[in-house]
Amino acid sequence: MNILITNGRLIDQTGERSGNVRISDGTITETGPDVEARDGDEVIDATGLVVCPGFVDLHVHLREPGKEEAETIETGSRGAALGGFTAVVAMPNTDPTQDSVGVVEFVRQQGERAGLCDVYPAGSITIGRNGEQLTPFAELAEAGVRLFTDDGNGVQDPQLMRRAYEYASDLGVTMAQHCEVESLTAGAVMHEGSCCSHLGLPGWPSIAEELMVHRDIELVRLTGAPAHFLHLSTAGSVDLVRAAKADGLPITAEATPHHISLTDELLTSYSALYKVNPPLRTMDDIDAVRRGLADGTIDAIATDHAPHVSDSKELPLDQAPPGMLGLETALGVAIAHLQTAHLDMELIDILAAMSWKPAAIAGIDDRHGRPIAT
Ligand code: DOR
Repeated sequence: MNILITNGRLIDQTGERSGNVRISDGTITETGPDVEARDGDEVIDATGLVVCPGFVDLHVHLREPGKEEAETIETGSRGAALGGFTAVVAMPNTDPTQDSVGVVEFVRQQGERAGLCDVYPAGSITIGRNGEQLTPFAELAEAGVRLFTDDGNGVQDPQLMRRAYEYASDLGVTMAQHCEVESLTAGAVMHEGSCCSHLGLPGWPSIAEELMVHRDIELVRLTGAPAHFLHLSTAGSVDLVRAAKADGLPITAEATPHHISLTDELLTSYSALYKVNPPLRTMDDIDAVRRGLADGTIDAIATDHAPHVSDSKELPLDQAPPGMLGLETALGVAIAHLQTAHLDMELIDILAAMSWKPAAIAGIDDRHGRPIAT
């Protein structure tokens, strides 16, 4: 099957140009202004449209195995494809946990079976995400796992995390940290600030994220291993990462669409649709995260797509699970909130944060986020 895409704005990591793209049996075979349709080509007129590499989401919860009533790898892949993603990294907080080669292979195969985008399973840092015993990193790396995380929880024990970074640097894999000091967030349902005090609800203070960001920056300095920070949400975290990068440390970070668009004031509705971890923060935090994306301190936009059955999101705030959807709406939210009058991030930089930069972080840039070329 041959497809010719004509008159598109071609944007990739080499820059922007206009032109046509010919695809034969799934492979780009010709690009340029003079490429013409041949007999049998399906012609797609992309006048006024952008043609770019597929997006890569570093952070999705596909819920399979274990919580298929909320999402399956097939339904999640469908959402991803609708949102423009060609690859997603599936978080390991499944049941059973993605802490063994068997479970990781199962997730990958379910992704292949769905056949809508590439599904790359992350491995957990600790067995069962219990924060006590490291998973067999070498075996999992051998099986193709490149990112390790206990997402949903941060690894609380600094000694265990130090060891995790030490092994990671030998194996060429990356630890991705969910930054939350849990003794500071027990029982919390929303950001700790004036809105939370007003509502009389238990709060999740910014410092609970920033302390772990700081700890892990220092562990990276000590071990030389790379770290990726998941879903950064506070102005202080952005400052810490900016300074660490200025020191030349091998650190990358992501932010979610909801942390660049929604504030904690939405919790005045008491609706658990707005309960998410880390929580929605203040306008000052949103501004700082947006600026972090614009100046490259934050490398990637990652959705933290975290579906739950709708009944559970109708429970009172303290009982409802945290999580928001994101796959289908990520690009629209990013454009709406990063191309604002006072920020005006270039489209190419938004695409970078959704495609080639996350592809490099996930170690899949040999297949994803590549330039539009033969
Ligand atoms: O809001 C969240 N939901 N944050 C997480 O870290 C985990 C996720 C989930 O699995 O529901």
